[in-house]
Amino acid sequence: MVKPEKLIENGIRLDGRKPDEIRPIKIKVGVLNRADGSCYFEFGGNKVIAAVYGPREVHPRHQQKSTSAVVRYRYNMASFSVEERKRPGPDRRSIEVSKVSREALEPVIFQEYFPRSAIDIFVEVLQADAGTRTAGINAASIALADAGIPMKSLVSACAVGKVDDTLVLDLNKDEDNYGQADMPIAMTPDGKITLLQMDGHLTRDEFREGLEMAKKGCLEIAQLQRTALMEKYSSLMEGEVNE
Ligand code: CDP
Repeated sequence: MVKPEKLIENGIRLDGRKPDEIRPIKIKVGVLNRADGSCYFEFGGNKVIAAVYGPREVHPRHQQKSTSAVVRYRYNMASFSVEERKRPGPDRRSIEVSKVSREALEPVIFQEYFPRSAIDIFVEVLQADAGTRTAGINAASIALADAGIPMKSLVSACAVGKVDDTLVLDLNKDEDNYGQADMPIAMTPDGKITLLQMDGHLTRDEFREGLEMAKKGCLEIAQLQRTALMEKYSSLMEGEVNE
């Protein structure tokens, strides 16, 4: 797509959102029978699935840690998930996204409960529309909880950025492509930041204001994550009562 003349007009973005609005979110918990925990997560045009396996044996063995679990995270983009077919398999970008996403989740996992074991997280991007790493982290956090992995809290993620000199929450593809800055952030509900990256440039004041916007977005997402988990488990419990 060619660069639109304006990305924001009269305070409204091209997709109809206000600057501080996140895209619509759809969550389904427990979508994969063979995973210990799983989640389907839609974040605007992003569609991702997260699967969690473990705690389980570590292979290869030399990766195991004697005092805690190893957390492994594989982010993968399907070749059909983007406009221009992506060559299958890992590349520099997916290795980087896997690393920062793992680091975004590790601080909330009680890894010391499971020495010599592995907690494996797989994130498959089925459709990408800017913000896939944040969608992946949101999905993975739910899938970890669904797998019963002990956690201090959930982790929620969304990006904040700048387009046409205006700070905007949760950038879409055009805003990501033609904007001035993109800053993906992940945090716990009490505001502990576990991921912060930045592409482009923000002033110190913009950074501060952006952080506040991201905090608000993450809290909204945390609420939806909680509700989705509660829905699955309260309906399971109701089933048990009715049996
Ligand atoms: O997806 P995320 O915003 O976390 O990461 P990015 O590296 O900033 O990529 C932004 C967007 O570019 C992705 O969400 C995809 O829509 C797109 N992209 C693509 O079209 N082809 C690729 N090989 C990689 C990314």
